[in-house]
Amino acid sequence: MSAFSTHLALHNNLQRTHRPLPEFLNTRINAYFEEYDPKKWGGGHIMRGRTPGVDDVRLTSNDYLSIAQHPEILQAMAKSILNDGNGLLMSGVFLHGNNPQMNLERKLAEYMHAEAGVLCQSGWCANTGLIQSIANKNIPVYIDMLAHTSLWEGIQSASANAVPFMHNDPEHLRKQVKHHGAGVIIVDSIYSTMGSICPLTEIVDISEENGCILVVDESHSLGTHGPHGEGLVVALGLTEYVHFRTASLAKAFAGRAGFITCPKRFSEYFRYESNPAIFSSTLLPHDVAGLDATLTVIQREDWRRKRLHANAAWLRASLEELGYNLNSSESQIVSLEAGPEQSTMKLRDALESHGIFGSVFMAPATPKNRSLIRFSVNALLTENELERIVEVCRDIREEVDMQNWPSTRRLRRASRPAPAVPPASQPELALAA
Ligand SMILES: Cc1ncc(COP(=O)(O)O)c(C=O)c1O
Repeated sequence: MSAFSTHLALHNNLQRTHRPLPEFLNTRINAYFEEYDPKKWGGGHIMRGRTPGVDDVRLTSNDYLSIAQHPEILQAMAKSILNDGNGLLMSGVFLHGNNPQMNLERKLAEYMHAEAGVLCQSGWCANTGLIQSIANKNIPVYIDMLAHTSLWEGIQSASANAVPFMHNDPEHLRKQVKHHGAGVIIVDSIYSTMGSICPLTEIVDISEENGCILVVDESHSLGTHGPHGEGLVVALGLTEYVHFRTASLAKAFAGRAGFITCPKRFSEYFRYESNPAIFSSTLLPHDVAGLDATLTVIQREDWRRKRLHANAAWLRASLEELGYNLNSSESQIVSLEAGPEQSTMKLRDALESHGIFGSVFMAPATPKNRSLIRFSVNALLTENELERIVEVCRDIREEVDMQNWPSTRRLRRASRPAPAVPPASQPELALAA
C-alpha cells in the first residue's frame, strides 16, 4: 500500500468514525430504535413495506391529475435546464423586476382569482412562513385539529397561542372565537389524511361575524376542484372572504413549490418578513418553467379532473359497500383506518402481497391508534386497476380483521338505530299523540 493510499484509507476511516453523541441526544435516538425494534413488529418496519413492481397498482403519489410525465411539462423543464442551468442560487428576497418566477406568481394569482401571490420553495415553507408573518403571541390562532403539521409549525414559529377546534366542527370554532376573541382561523380545504372536505361557507360566516383573518390550505384542492382547477374557495365563490390561500404545488401540480394568494401589498411584505423567504434559497429556473407549463396543462385538460372525480367516487362507493368506514372522505383521498399500528402493518402487508400500494399514515401524522393506509386516487387509474383494488379489499377483509377495527365498530355504532325511548320519559310526545 502506497503512503498516499494509506493516508486515504486513514482519512476515509476517520470520516466514518463518529465520536459518541452526548447522552441527551442518544436518549432520543434510542427511544426511536426501541419503538421501531423489528422484533416488536414481526421483523418489519411499519413505514417500509415491499417495493412495488411494474404491474402493481400504486396509490402513493399525490399526482392526482397524472401529469408528472406530461411531455409538455418535461420539455419545458428540460429546455430550462439546458438554457439556464441552475440559475442564480439565492433567496427570494433578492428577486425583483421582470423575471419568470414573478411572472408565474402573477399568472397563478390570476388563475386563483386573487390580487397577488408569492411562490415559496414548498407548501411547508408557504405555511410556516405565512403564519409566522401574520400571527404573534397576542393573537389567538384557531386551527382545525386535523390541519396540516406545517400550519401548527407556523403557529410555533410565530410564538402564537394555538386554539384548536374539533375537526370540521364550525359550532366548536364559533364557541372558541366567542371565548378568545378575534384572531386567525386556519383550515385545510381537504384534509390530507382522510379526505374530508371543510365546511368552508360556515367557516367564512364565523370569520366574517367576528372580524377574523381566514387562512385556507388548498394543497389538496388546487388543480382538482373548481371549473378549471382553481380550488374550492373559487368554486364556492368565497375568494373575497378568504384572506390567504396556501397550496403545496407538489400535489396536483406535480412540482416542488408552494404558493400563497394574498393582497398585493402583503406579497412584498412577505418577501422581507417571512423566514423561509429570507433565509432559504428560492426555486430553481426549471421548477418555475415546469410549473408554468403545468398551469397551462391543468387549465386546459378538464378531462383529467372529470376522470379523477369519477374514479374517486366509484372507489369510495365500492369500498363503502364492502363495509369500510371511509371517515367521511368526499375526495380523491380515500383511507382505510385499521387503527392500532400493528393492524395497519397487517393491512399494508395484505394489500401489498396482492399488488396494491398505499401510504402508511400513523402518529404524529394521525392521532395515536388511528393509523391508516391512504389511497391517493389519480386520473389515469384504469377500470381494471380500480376493480382490482376493490377485489383485493373485498378478499382481505377477514385476513385483516376489518370487522373488528375501531373505525368499523364506530361505523356500526353510528348506523345502529337509536334505542327506543320509553314512553314515560317523553311527555311532550305523549301529549302530541
Ligand atoms: C395540506 C398540506 N399542506 C402542506 C403540505 C406541505 O407541502 P410540501 O410537501 O410542498 O412541503 C402538505 C404535504 O404534505 C399538505 O398535505
